[in-house]
Amino acid sequence: MNFELTEEQLAVQQAARDFAQTELLPGVIERDDKQEFPYEQVKKLGELGFMGMMVDPKYGGSGMDTISYVLAMEELSKVDASASVVVSVNNSLVCWGLETYGTEEQKQKYLVPMASGKVHGAFLLSEPEAGSDATSQRTTAEDKGEYYLLNGTKNWITNGNTASYYLVIAQTDVDKKHKGINAFIVEKNWPGVTIGKKEDKMGIRGSDTHSIMFTDVKVPKENRIGEDGFGFKFAMKVLTGGRIGIAAQALGIASGAYELALKYSKERKAFGKEIMHHQAIQFKLADMATQIEAARLLCLKAAALKDADQDYALASSMAKVFASETAMWVTTEAVQVHGGYGYVKEYHVERLMRDAKITQIYEGTSEVQRIVISREILK
Ligand code: CAA
Repeated sequence: MNFELTEEQLAVQQAARDFAQTELLPGVIERDDKQEFPYEQVKKLGELGFMGMMVDPKYGGSGMDTISYVLAMEELSKVDASASVVVSVNNSLVCWGLETYGTEEQKQKYLVPMASGKVHGAFLLSEPEAGSDATSQRTTAEDKGEYYLLNGTKNWITNGNTASYYLVIAQTDVDKKHKGINAFIVEKNWPGVTIGKKEDKMGIRGSDTHSIMFTDVKVPKENRIGEDGFGFKFAMKVLTGGRIGIAAQALGIASGAYELALKYSKERKAFGKEIMHHQAIQFKLADMATQIEAARLLCLKAAALKDADQDYALASSMAKVFASETAMWVTTEAVQVHGGYGYVKEYHVERLMRDAKITQIYEGTSEVQRIVISREILK
């Protein structure tokens, strides 16, 4: 077992760290406050190769491994989880799915612009009544011969209004249950696509979350991904990798809050000495550091298994549930270490605490991860 990172991985980590400090940190509080999407920052992330990190350079990507992706996600998320979720959805859910299961034509037309960061994508699975219970799709894609007719509503879609292309999961043959579900590439500007209301969220407020409605949208046959009926498996496979990205996001939120708490504990004095000299604070910092290291190892293990082409479903759900619960706990403790200052926006930790919560919900709740883990260990 080798815990050393390669020179290339260290360089990616450093580049993401520098980007977070110079490009994401300025304005992060205002973007959160005003719910402003980080357009400029996402454009630059694309130019630097962070939007298609694992995609083959022949399709506009950076050709990196999943470990590098985890390292970059941690660094970006330490500072701005609203920007990092855009990176994660585009990399894991959209680009990976298209590169792995798309046709050559689909890759040329849709993957190349998204992997190179010229535009980005969104993944449309969740519905008003199909969140965790993902097989209960009400959105329909009726087979009309030359094309599919898409009707329905998707909810809580990250990048809903800023994405150019959507990967949409829909039911084609209800009698076949999940085996009658398909996945399609849909262009946002097609007739019949309507952007619904923007969600006013607790956290990741700089990201763009919408409901999307489809009314008689004609989707060409060539825009279906994989064989007829492959859509549910496609969604599950894509989410299995996506959970590594969200686990790394949660890890970054936790380590960002921990670093702020550590710094503050060295500056703030109480009872005649810096608070880091009080055992009550030392124990908190020790527990935070230990939990974060465990979360990091789970994330890296899941990434290493994926890079080695081994089964990573168990590892990715373990990483996600542990890292997201670590993020919630560490950020809450970081606010506590800061006392009253922790409760105001200027000190960043209250935002990190609000951002942490979503990592226990999206790309499969903590309860869904426990379903996946228990099925894996019991089979
Ligand atoms: N890889 C490949 N195939 C898989 C799989 C995986 N990881 N998991 C399940 N499948 C297959 C099964 O083998 C089965 O296929 P067969 O019938 O051929 O055997 C089929 O899928 C159905 O599987 P299950 O019986 O396990 O399905 P289920 O209804 O019991 O659901 C679940 C399982 C794990 C709860 C699943 O519904 C799930 O993951 N739900 C959560 C969905 C989710 O993560 N939503 C997040 C939305 S996306 C998002 O948040 C993006 C964003 O904007 C940030």
